[in-house]
Amino acid sequence: MNFHYLTKDEINIIVNIDKESNKTPWSLHDYEESFKNPHHYFVGYSINNKLIGICAYSLVIDEAEILQIVIEKESQGNGYGYQLLNHVCNLVIAQKATQIFLEVMVGNTNAINLYHKLGFNIIGKRKNYYRVEGKSIDAILMAKTLIGFDLS
Ligand SMILES: CC(C)(COP(=O)(O)OP(=O)(O)OC[C@H]1O[C@@H](n2cnc3c(N)ncnc32)[C@H](O)[C@@H]1OP(=O)(O)O)[C@@H](O)C(=O)NCCC(=O)NCCS
Repeated sequence: MNFHYLTKDEINIIVNIDKESNKTPWSLHDYEESFKNPHHYFVGYSINNKLIGICAYSLVIDEAEILQIVIEKESQGNGYGYQLLNHVCNLVIAQKATQIFLEVMVGNTNAINLYHKLGFNIIGKRKNYYRVEGKSIDAILMAKTLIGFDLS
């Protein structure tokens, strides 16, 4: 397994993984805009040289936010999402983040369970944050304090 920072050259494969495996994927335009943002980072998870997961995060001063995390459908349920998010938490700690936030769609139990397992707590709700197939769905806001986090 291998983690690496993704570059814009990999944008088409990133968009493809997101589109195939995520209910709320970003468009090519979303990723193009995000790549232009100097506070945004993209981490890929490869197995046998094949990209199977991506995570986009932002870091502004000491606050990090998970913007997107996706493991390709056929590789889900093998612990890869946990490893990828754990790796990203360690990266932002090394970048001096003290808190990390994320939003997740109400009902996305797999993701919510993953975030709880990594120590994220629910801190609020955003009404009608997502739009899926014409329906508005609330987001749960979660956070994790990184101060004192064990890097080992
Ligand atoms: C959410 C996601 C990234 C998890 O990645 P994954 O590799 O499938 O998850 P893992 O195998 O690492 O599982 C880690 C934990 O997540 C939770 N989880 C993952 N799949 C689950 C499932 N099918 N049912 C219940 N909990 C699940 C569990 O807590 C699991 O820990 P456990 O195995 O000890 O029970 C992946 O399902 C995904 O890409 N989903 C589509 C995109 C998405 O919804 N992203 C989140 C946007 S906010």
